[in-house]
Amino acid sequence: MKHQLPELPYDLGELAPFVSEEQMDFHYNKHHAGYFKKLDGLIQGKPEEELELKELVASSSGGVFNNAAQAWNHTFFWNCMSPNGGGKPSGELMTALERDFGGFEAFKQEMSDKAAALFGSGWAWLAKNSEGKLEIMPLGNADTPLKHNKEPVLTLDVWEHAYYIDYRNRRPDFIEGFWDVVNWDFVSQSYAQK
Ligand SMILES: [Fe+2]
Repeated sequence: MKHQLPELPYDLGELAPFVSEEQMDFHYNKHHAGYFKKLDGLIQGKPEEELELKELVASSSGGVFNNAAQAWNHTFFWNCMSPNGGGKPSGELMTALERDFGGFEAFKQEMSDKAAALFGSGWAWLAKNSEGKLEIMPLGNADTPLKHNKEPVLTLDVWEHAYYIDYRNRRPDFIEGFWDVVNWDFVSQSYAQK
């Protein structure tokens, strides 16, 4: 298998109380692992297998895209969080959030509102366009800013499978808890890329 499920950057239970060990176990070991397994079944022995996962996401469509993007999106999402996360960003990212949203609290509110309003399954992204401007992109299913020529900076998984064990149908509570674990160091590095 060329594309392997990467290790989590923390233990399964370490993001509690935002998400429990059981919730994380299902999300990572069942859902995330499942996308890698399905992807492998689709591309094994084909030229696409040799591409880096991010390149495969950008160049594929249909079932290969859905599984490659979900594989990549989740790895990015895990890295956006840390047991030591929360608080506020600083430096260039903070300056950019103030410039493009009118302040950190306004940014948080807009991203939370758009994540809550996203119909069905999907991801709320903070992305950077080719001019360096930040924008919030609520995208359905496996869709990612990579498909829109934008660089992912931060993401929040709002598929029901991300919160169904701990929060049942209460997506807004899940979104509120997310801000307590955001790894702003990683998000700042993503913003500084390119
Ligand atoms: Fe997910």
